[in-house]
Amino acid sequence: MVTRILIEHASQIATPRGRSARRGSEMRQIQEIADGAIYIEDGIIKEVGPTDQVTAAVGDLQGVEVVNAAGHSIVPGFVDSHTHYIFGGYRPEEFLARLEGAGYLEIMKMGGGIQSTVNATKACSEQELYRLGLQRLDEMLAQGVTTMEGKSGYGLDLDCELKQLRAMQQTDRDHPVEVVPTYLGGHAVPPEYRGDPDGYVDFMIKEVLPRVKELGLATFCDVFCEDSVFSIEQSRRLLRAAQEMGFGLKMHADEIVSLGGAELAAELGAVSADHLLMASDLGIAKLAGAGTVATLLPSTAFCLAHPYAPGRKMIDAGCAVALASDYNPGSCFTNSIPLILALAGIHMHLSIEEVLTGATLNGAAAVGRADRIGSLEPGKQADFLLLRYPDYRFLVYHSGVNIVEQVYKKGRLVYGGRP
Ligand code: NIG
Ligand code: FE
Repeated sequence: MVTRILIEHASQIATPRGRSARRGSEMRQIQEIADGAIYIEDGIIKEVGPTDQVTAAVGDLQGVEVVNAAGHSIVPGFVDSHTHYIFGGYRPEEFLARLEGAGYLEIMKMGGGIQSTVNATKACSEQELYRLGLQRLDEMLAQGVTTMEGKSGYGLDLDCELKQLRAMQQTDRDHPVEVVPTYLGGHAVPPEYRGDPDGYVDFMIKEVLPRVKELGLATFCDVFCEDSVFSIEQSRRLLRAAQEMGFGLKMHADEIVSLGGAELAAELGAVSADHLLMASDLGIAKLAGAGTVATLLPSTAFCLAHPYAPGRKMIDAGCAVALASDYNPGSCFTNSIPLILALAGIHMHLSIEEVLTGATLNGAAAVGRADRIGSLEPGKQADFLLLRYPDYRFLVYHSGVNIVEQVYKKGRLVYGGRP
């Protein structure tokens, strides 16, 4: 039997439109519908528009579940396209040391940072990683995230990377939030390969990537291209090999030092280049030309007290910008979606329309799923949020506060009660 749902009389429906990333000035194009309705069959949107038009198109309401959304605005579910949510242990001492002036790379060079989470993740069972993963997905769902990317990268060796990816796959199966998995073995050079990053790149290319592919455990391959981590040349070699094996590409690019990561992401046709705090003007121009999504992570800059990525400049240059959390136990131990939206709107000078596009459709493009999610249009998956206020602009105006009241995933209410 077909499941049919009609959400009617929403004070406002606000959504970007399209099946690919919105670039430059397109990011401001938000469709706003007053007294809006959405009609859904079996989790897929069939109609979106003013309530009178949608109800006329649906006709007979026999067997249709009708939900009155008066007083609420509706937006697409958020797509968090950059997270590291499967990890063991925490690093509060490192956070406090940074507040006292220690640098992120300095801590890493002293054997702390990512390596300390690698040690803690190795000590965790797969079951424990799975349990923590589910808890973290619950937190994301309550803030309106309906699809989330997740990275490995706290295992580095074959067994622990596979353990992380399997735990991720299991959370995807058992939780309403849809998870897009990324292999990030190139997150740090493990102690076994100290002084031999090229040897570690060979190991990933020969031993790990083929196995990850064969087991179907990741869609994307990512690398931390950074001063004293992986060079441009090493990143290019790893990513090219991954591309040949059929992985989509992502990059931690120009986060702390301007290395030319944005240029490399564009050269390789990466799906996204992420961070970009230090991206050069040439890099920005290349991203705009290449169709690579520039994924900005404002809460990382906030937590590291670094200057924000030049989001305004990027959009003005014609880039497609996505906004994501970078949730991880080190550089950015926050998964607050309201914080990201507020920082993007207030400190990165994105308009409210650009913020919405960045957190929805462009996030979907950054995980290669803009054809299915990220906007409210016929044919797309019915992933959407009912907000506590009648206007979606409260997402930034009510700064840093979660105003998500209900979450629908594939047409099913998965968070919050009926209005
Ligand atoms: O995106 N920069 C590299 N990776 C993460 C941080 C990981 C960590 O510190 O544990 C990031 O910022
Ligand atoms: Fe990251």
